[in-house]
Amino acid sequence: MKYFLVVTAEVISSIVFFLPRYRTFNKFKSIYLLCWGAKIGKRVVYYSGVRIFPGRNLVVGDDVSFAKGTQIYPNGGITIGSRVLIGFNALMIAGNHAIPATRSESLYNYPGSDRRPIVIEDDVWIGANCTILPGVTIGTGSVVAGGAVVTKDVPPYAIVGGVPAKIIKMRP
Ligand SMILES: CC(C)(COP(=O)(O)OP(=O)(O)OC[C@H]1O[C@@H](n2cnc3c(N)ncnc32)[C@H](O)[C@@H]1OP(=O)(O)O)[C@@H](O)C(=O)NCCC(=O)NCCS
Repeated sequence: MKYFLVVTAEVISSIVFFLPRYRTFNKFKSIYLLCWGAKIGKRVVYYSGVRIFPGRNLVVGDDVSFAKGTQIYPNGGITIGSRVLIGFNALMIAGNHAIPATRSESLYNYPGSDRRPIVIEDDVWIGANCTILPGVTIGTGSVVAGGAVVTKDVPPYAIVGGVPAKIIKMRP
């Protein structure tokens, strides 16, 4: 029964987030997330094809744009500030599967998870195809270059890139 409900909720979410990014639909998507317990600011834009599931443990500020293909899994909590641009196919996962203490146990269906919050502060630009891992804070005004995998905190006003992401330079 639980499986049926989860899959049904996933299908409904997919349909909602397939809608185009007209203003009315953006508001509808924000209200949909509010129903899941998220806190969503004003003028949030969702391209068609964003995936946010489930909506709880998610806080989003004002003037945030989620580009097509963005995937957000806020199980461990994701907080996004205001004036944040999130590029195509960005991935934010706020939890890891638990890794068994011994090799004799399978990773598949191993119980438990390691949930750690992701924080994106104000005025951040996350480039296309970035992955933000659990527990990471991205500081105010920073830029995450396309294709980066961010494994550690990013200081304010840094431009970071690569796998794992390192500081390319500081913003002027
Ligand atoms: C981060 C970015 C804005 C930097 O632009 P820039 O300030 O003009 O930087 P430069 O091109 O001068 O590059 C500076 C250094 O960073 C490196 N660099 C640039 N982009 C990089 C990236 N995505 N990943 C890793 N390194 C990168 C360059 O190779 C260069 O290294 P070097 O000094 O050893 O030669 C740009 O490269 C980028 O990644 N933009 C994202 C584009 C995108 O995703 N658009 C979608 C929008 S939704």
